[in-house]
Amino acid sequence: MSQLKAVILAAGKGTRMKSDLPKVVHTIEGKCLVDYAIEAAEGAGAGEICLVVGYKYEIVRESISHKDVKFVLQEQQLGTGHAVRCAKEFLGEEGQTLILFGDTPLITAETLKKLREHHIASGNTVTVLSAMVEDPTGYGRIIRDADGNFVKSVEHKDATEAELASHEINSGMYIFDTKELREALDLILPNNAQGEYYLPDTLTIIKEKGLKVDAYALDDPEDITGVNDQEQLAAAAVVIRRRIAGNKAKNRR
Ligand code: UD1
Ligand code: MG
Repeated sequence: MSQLKAVILAAGKGTRMKSDLPKVVHTIEGKCLVDYAIEAAEGAGAGEICLVVGYKYEIVRESISHKDVKFVLQEQQLGTGHAVRCAKEFLGEEGQTLILFGDTPLITAETLKKLREHHIASGNTVTVLSAMVEDPTGYGRIIRDADGNFVKSVEHKDATEAELASHEINSGMYIFDTKELREALDLILPNNAQGEYYLPDTLTIIKEKGLKVDAYALDDPEDITGVNDQEQLAAAAVVIRRRIAGNKAKNRR
């Protein structure tokens, strides 16, 4: 298999945490949120990992227990596409790039491995991890045509009424063929409701080139659940403790 590198976005402050600490250094079972994402990336086969940091990045650097990761600084948070663009030198020219967020600690190596297998087996240039959810409010929506083919990923704030009816959400996690990601990153523009450089716009750019773009949908959204506030941090901790207890039980058997 070709080489896999991972970029983990962790530059934001996480205002809704109501904390002075960057969101991704909050801990569950003694490990900070971004460490969970790093472990999942490693477990999925990422040989090199780069963290995009910004808000209080010194604290992020000190808090993570995985010391063999690289860092790039995104001084201003201009959007997810801009954040990945900051890591362009790290990406290199070939192989595949896994994109994760630092605030989704429930993602597992198993799910990412399945995403990568699907990406390769389907001959996709980019595969976005998606999930069916009851309440998609606030998330980017995956839009498909009548035959179920991927059309685009549109942000809630930019979506039409019809698009908002989609319950398939963009998780923010992707596998890209690196070469095409690089080219598409140069073409995205902040011409949208939030004035940001959106990473999901690269999907449209790559599709318009005639390359294969698809969403790999999970039936159960647990793995992609993000942490935005203290309540969600507590909920994620419950899941992680349940998983740890489950593993212990399995090992006893
Ligand atoms: C993003 C996706 C959306 C998806 C959702 C899943 C985009 C434009 N939208 O929306 O489709 O459904 O995630 O949770 O990608 N970050 C940076 N630098 C930036 C901007 C963001 O590092 O300039 C980091 C944040 O720290 C955070 C993550 O990227 O960890 C997501 O950013 P956020 O602005 O919260 O994206 P959403 O609006 O949730
Ligand atoms: Mg946002």
